[in-house]
Amino acid sequence: MDQSRRKFLTRFMVATAGLGVSALMPGMLRATPRDPKRLLAGGNALRLPAIFSGNSIVASSQAQTVWPDQPTTVWTLGGSYPAPTIRLKKGEQLSVMLTNNLQEPTNIHWHGLLVPSAMDGHAMDVVAPGSGKKYEFTIEQRAGIYWYHPHPDGSTGRQVYKGMAGFFIVEDDEEMALGLPSGKYEIPLVIQDRRVRTDRAFDYTLTMPDRMDGRLGDTILANGTPDAMFDAESTIYRFRLLNGSNARVYNIALSDHHDLHVIGTDCGLLDKLRSVKSFFLGPGERVDLLIDLSSYAVGNSVRLVAETFDNAIDWTTQGWGGDILRMNIVKEGPKRTLPMTLVAYEHLDPDNAVRTRSFSFKMVVPMPATGMHTINDLVYDGARIDLTVGAGDTEIWRLFNNSDEPHPIHLHGAQFQILSRDGTGIDDPKDMGWKDTVILWGKQVVEVVVRFSTHTGMFLFHCHNLEHEDDGMMMNYEIMKAESGVEETSSVDWSREKMELR
Ligand code: C2O
Ligand code: CU
Ligand code: CU
Repeated sequence: MDQSRRKFLTRFMVATAGLGVSALMPGMLRATPRDPKRLLAGGNALRLPAIFSGNSIVASSQAQTVWPDQPTTVWTLGGSYPAPTIRLKKGEQLSVMLTNNLQEPTNIHWHGLLVPSAMDGHAMDVVAPGSGKKYEFTIEQRAGIYWYHPHPDGSTGRQVYKGMAGFFIVEDDEEMALGLPSGKYEIPLVIQDRRVRTDRAFDYTLTMPDRMDGRLGDTILANGTPDAMFDAESTIYRFRLLNGSNARVYNIALSDHHDLHVIGTDCGLLDKLRSVKSFFLGPGERVDLLIDLSSYAVGNSVRLVAETFDNAIDWTTQGWGGDILRMNIVKEGPKRTLPMTLVAYEHLDPDNAVRTRSFSFKMVVPMPATGMHTINDLVYDGARIDLTVGAGDTEIWRLFNNSDEPHPIHLHGAQFQILSRDGTGIDDPKDMGWKDTVILWGKQVVEVVVRFSTHTGMFLFHCHNLEHEDDGMMMNYEIMKAESGVEETSSVDWSREKMELR
């Protein structure tokens, strides 16, 4: 199909679906064109990341199989792409030595984990080529889907794109008592897009659109598998979904629009199961999902897909989609029922907030060579402390997207709950529960109630579109000893920002 016909068809489908081009509402679905060739093709068996054991993680470059026809040079943490899955229980300790065998500085950030500042993999706290660093901390938080990836200032995008990222799954007694699907019925699934060139390299030469929109790919990989397929049983599966892409937001659904059952978000389980037709997953976000394959007869297949949304034309824009994973039902599986009640979790009370702050995310026009993405008009400066908060404090943060593109906003050293989007309360299960990353759609204001960790020191606040982050859409914030009314040492005039937002 040539480009103009494809564009016409995409537009035609959008028009016939009767949806405005800027409708970005969860639950709205648009058909993804079926590619009959792909349905008939065998696909590649879904890779499952290795399980991490031991106490050493080496960062290195090596040739690995991503496409069956030729090897790809990937950068790995722990020798594989995706990196091995770390699995620990609340209360247990992680103790690993990172050895940097790359030609450039790197480090490891434990995304979503509340750890001491010196263990957090801060952008300025890097490990030189040929040296190492010991990361050691105790897991002090609830069960959830966390992950780890490098975070060196200015090169996070390249290092993650080249393959450095893995799951960090935390378990606890409360969750284990639910008896959710486990073993071969529990699948960690990291979704990443890559731009495929004829040499199948994970090339990372940024174009001007890449610098503006982030590095969007033309191929979706599931656990590093292109055209991934999975031989399943007719039973309930638990999928731990992570969007590990540099920039792309996915509109996750099943190809036949059957229900997806959301049981958890970034930092743990929800109070009860909620069924949806689709949800948006932004870079850095996770969803704990049950997929019920029991109603499918053996011999059938169903696909987990990214539905197109907004005015997507092709892969060069946000809103493009495609197949993520084809599930072939190959045999009968154990009969199970969906758990309706999950775990009661603490709901943060916004009335306990000691302060409200406002942040504005902008794309500067006309564009400077670097630093076109800003927070409160500032470009990241590793030597500058942008704000301070009190250890263990609760605050309300108003996040205002002053641009047209989505920004997945992420906080280190804290977890939050979403209060509202454009003043409207939250009804999308994907936005419920404890979170550390939230999609801020174009021109939207999102209010979150944040609780900071009790670990003092320097932490980061940034856009998890990794090209935006590397371009400077990031801030240093410091957690100070708990002492109510700690004065800010920020160079930002908060009162002015708040005025602008009202
Ligand atoms: Cu997943 Cu500061 O990052
Ligand atoms: Cu993080
Ligand atoms: Cu951004």
